[in-house]
Amino acid sequence: MRIDILTLFPEMFAGPFDASIIARARAAGVLDIALHNPRDYTTDKHRIVDDYAYGGGPGMVMKPEPIFDCVDAVRPMADAPGKLVLLTPQGRLLNHDVVAELAEEPRLILICGHYEGVDERVRAFLVDDEISIGDYVLSGGEPAAIVLVDAVARHQPGVLGSELSLEEESHAQGLLEYPQYTRPAEFRGMAIPEILLSGHHAEIAKWRRRQSILRTARRRPDLLAKAQLTPEERRLVEEELARE
Ligand code: ADE
Repeated sequence: MRIDILTLFPEMFAGPFDASIIARARAAGVLDIALHNPRDYTTDKHRIVDDYAYGGGPGMVMKPEPIFDCVDAVRPMADAPGKLVLLTPQGRLLNHDVVAELAEEPRLILICGHYEGVDERVRAFLVDDEISIGDYVLSGGEPAAIVLVDAVARHQPGVLGSELSLEEESHAQGLLEYPQYTRPAEFRGMAIPEILLSGHHAEIAKWRRRQSILRTARRRPDLLAKAQLTPEERRLVEEELARE
């Protein structure tokens, strides 16, 4: 997968893209990331990328020309035209399904907004999609782009140690993940659940599913309402919650 990122602050990506899963995906050749600065596509002496809002009001707005020109130059840098995504608090909320959908694209071109926003013509005539990573305002789209790239990278084949980890983790099946433990089996008087030492794989799988369901019921009832549960599992949730 190729990801082009349009940003006024390319230096913000240096740390996050050079460590852990993203670095591994890049080294393995399954993720090709390129950064582009719209400021390099300005034509005026002062390389201006923002201006006052028509109609007045506080804050500056990102000008359309450097962004359109940057996209025109970046498009032909790879075979696929790419899906153009603007990171903005006004976009659709990023969740597991949206990540899985974007991860299928051969190429994404991400635009990081700044200042009070971008000229509406970028939104209306250039981008294909708008994504928000949560209902709060960041000072720019860069941290959101990093979040998106990280989440999408984990879906590329061969990036995670085992493909199974993707299916098991939180949100993959609409449920939160079950509790995990590693050695030692007892630590400062805190013992791990006995079942995990039993070697009984079917029983462990049952216990984990149950933990997943109950944890989701307690922490994220909104997710549980949408999850696929058997009638028996629904009954288990009702019984357990009634007891608390
Ligand atoms: N830019 C500023 N805030 C944002 C958010 N919450 N999500 C995506 N991009 C943003």
